[in-house]
Amino acid sequence: MTAQPASATRAAPPGTGTMTSATRTKTMKAVRIHRHGGPDALIYEDVPVPALRPGDALVRVHAAAISPAEFTWRIYETPDGRSRLPKIPSHEISGVVAAVAPGAEGVAVGDAVYALTDFLRDGGAAEYVAARAADLASKPRTVDYAAAATVPLSALTAWQALFDHAHLAPGQRVLVHGAAGGVGSFAVQLARWRGAHVVATASARDVEFVRGLGADAALDYAATPFEAVARDADVVLDTVGGTVTGRSWATLRPGGLLVTIVRQPPEWTAGRPARGLFFVVEPSRAQLDELARLIDAGTVRPVVDAVLPLAQAREAYDRGINGHPRGKLVLAVAGDGGDGAVAAAPAGS
Ligand SMILES: NC(=O)c1ccc[n+]([C@@H]2O[C@H](COP(=O)([O-])OP(=O)(O)OC[C@H]3O[C@@H](n4cnc5c(N)ncnc54)[C@H](OP(=O)(O)O)[C@@H]3O)[C@@H](O)[C@H]2O)c1
Repeated sequence: MTAQPASATRAAPPGTGTMTSATRTKTMKAVRIHRHGGPDALIYEDVPVPALRPGDALVRVHAAAISPAEFTWRIYETPDGRSRLPKIPSHEISGVVAAVAPGAEGVAVGDAVYALTDFLRDGGAAEYVAARAADLASKPRTVDYAAAATVPLSALTAWQALFDHAHLAPGQRVLVHGAAGGVGSFAVQLARWRGAHVVATASARDVEFVRGLGADAALDYAATPFEAVARDADVVLDTVGGTVTGRSWATLRPGGLLVTIVRQPPEWTAGRPARGLFFVVEPSRAQLDELARLIDAGTVRPVVDAVLPLAQAREAYDRGINGHPRGKLVLAVAGDGGDGAVAAAPAGS
């Protein structure tokens, strides 16, 4: 991350103070969720460029990856019940720093960055996003903006599940559910990198693909009950929820850990012979730096299912929900060619 020079441009909220040329535009194209529901609640429209808070950076978004389940997240009300709608979705982005506010440390205008942005603020399905500068990390150098945008939410979730919460160690056995999905595709690669033995579940058409990501064994979830194959696991990473969570207890060794990232009812671990944990991912520049190193070394590869223009966000979310994507779907925002080229090659097998 470039150290911020004393003379770096500092931006007041757009419309006031000193701004770079990039932020003189006071409106931008964005997609917003206008009501509870699904993709048909999304509108592509002109909205104000976001105002910066102290410590923020304004990022010119090049690409934003989508999470199909975002419509179900509990992020649309304030703690006292007021609506946050309309709200811009997508909280994993790549782009270039366009301006910085007072107190923003560690980034400078022009830096190529990627980030997981605050779930409770407007997201990155827009030309600009305001984010805490401390949450921005240098974009991996060897992949384009579309591929970089798939990393922050999904790979940080996999990292924090396996390493911060489960403390996965070399030689341990891990079962990864939903291994061809956004989180699961990173989890398989990270667990393999750590030296664990990886069993993965996926759709029939993705079984070979997840083996290619590094799974030692891969099961078609519709054909093979995973309890018949996965035994004595030290760790289960559940990215699916529903009955998969409850059935997973049987695969754990006594004292093993079931980490789910899908919200569970209270007391979901009561009477179980193993430990259970639900968590919500947090931004981390240090972990994104480590992930960028792994990506630039070729150890971990982001999986891009398809890249669609921002204006086609409804179609992208529809495909995410109904199309069984492999890895992530990405919205292309700035298509400026060269290092800023957004398009990524489709996910291979
Ligand atoms: N707590 C957190 O911090 C956090 C962070 C990120 C995501 N999440 C949540 O985690 C979940 C997964 O996110 P994601 O982005 O990885 O979703 P995703 O890309 O849709 O991946 C889910 C994967 O699960 C597979 N799948 C569906 N049913 C399955 C089953 N019965 N057994 C095994 N695999 C199955 C799907 O395959 P097919 O499509 O081929 O059926 C898909 O590849 C979502 O609910 C999301 O909201 C939580």
